[in-house]
Amino acid sequence: YRNLRVALLGAGSVGSQVARLLLSQGDEFASRIGARLELVGIAVRDVDAPRDTELPRELFTTDASSLILGADIVVELMGGIEPARGYVLEALNSGADVITANKALLATHGPELFDAAEQVGAQLYYEAAVAGAIPIIRPLRDSLAGDRINRILGIVNGTTNFVLDRMDVNGETLQDALATATDRGYAEADPTADIGGYDAAQKAAILASLAFHTVVPLDRVYREGITGVTKAQVDAAREAGAVIKLLAICERMTDPETGEEGVSARVYPALISRDHPLAAVHGAHNAVFVQAAAAGDLMFYGAGAGGVETASAVLGDVVSAARRHVVGGPGVAESTHADLPVLDIGRVVTRY
Ligand code: NDP
Ligand code: HSE
Repeated sequence: YRNLRVALLGAGSVGSQVARLLLSQGDEFASRIGARLELVGIAVRDVDAPRDTELPRELFTTDASSLILGADIVVELMGGIEPARGYVLEALNSGADVITANKALLATHGPELFDAAEQVGAQLYYEAAVAGAIPIIRPLRDSLAGDRINRILGIVNGTTNFVLDRMDVNGETLQDALATATDRGYAEADPTADIGGYDAAQKAAILASLAFHTVVPLDRVYREGITGVTKAQVDAAREAGAVIKLLAICERMTDPETGEEGVSARVYPALISRDHPLAAVHGAHNAVFVQAAAAGDLMFYGAGAGGVETASAVLGDVVSAARRHVVGGPGVAESTHADLPVLDIGRVVTRY
């Protein structure tokens, strides 16, 4: 196998899991891709910070630019706007493919980054930027590209769903539930991004831009967070047979005043009837409903936050990027490798 050099920027909740899986599943990736992924280094703020994984210390550096130089694939998991934006541009300008989970960066500087990628024929992948482990970017960008999407509605922030769920089911306060969400690695570095609805608004801007083939700027997304939601409101909702969920809604609409056709993207806490499928989305899970003209109603559900769960989406992008570099590799859809034997078991009845 030839080597593809992977530079990782960030080793927090998500980055540490990406590094662990890259190192521990090297052989599997090599046979799937037709090339070996070499983790050349991990850029962090503080190389001496205590880390609860067994990642080799010699991989850590504070010099992100040196790592980017000569990398085939750069994975940005630092978060925030700067210096992440500068490093992503450095990587793209050098011709590397970039994978990011950074919705704040994409929602504010997306066009600049996609232009930079196009200039040099590089790719920018971001499956993990919306709804954690749930595949939603590729379905919107690729699988549904021949359809007309009319509406996207769902829960796209794991932290706020976890907090509202804990307030409802366990009677916890918002602050206590948020502290647990932060401990579990669900929340943003500044959790105001979660409870203020900013993170969900960034995701709504990304989803709406993809779904409606337009640029939806972040400042055109209506946003309310859950900071004002009280236990009394959560209890009152329960007594009324409802539950409060932070929703993101993106849809084609006609302006009621001007009659102009356009799209609308909005984020706010809403009352959902207990028998609605969204009411059954617990913990840090997310669910996204897509209404398309030909396909009809589609539902995407799963872990919306969490280090290892999000690492799955990041690594899917890493494999896609790596396959682009390998001419004659196993290709995207079908594997010619026999990783596992096919068992001759016949009919098995399993009770679920
Ligand atoms: P963390 O805050 O846990 O980790 C950030 C990492 O980046 C740390 O290792 C930190 O270094 C490093 N870092 C931060 N700033 C710099 C800098 N200026 N120079 C060098 N290194 C830096 O973030 P997460 O892992 O939670 O999130 C990463 C990205 O993934 C974010 O964009 C987030 O929005 C996104 N995301 C997160 C999800 C989650 O469930 N957590 C889910 C989906 C997306 P050090 O360790 O030294 O502090
Ligand atoms: N803080 C984010 C959330 C991480 O809770 O949904 C996943 O994007």
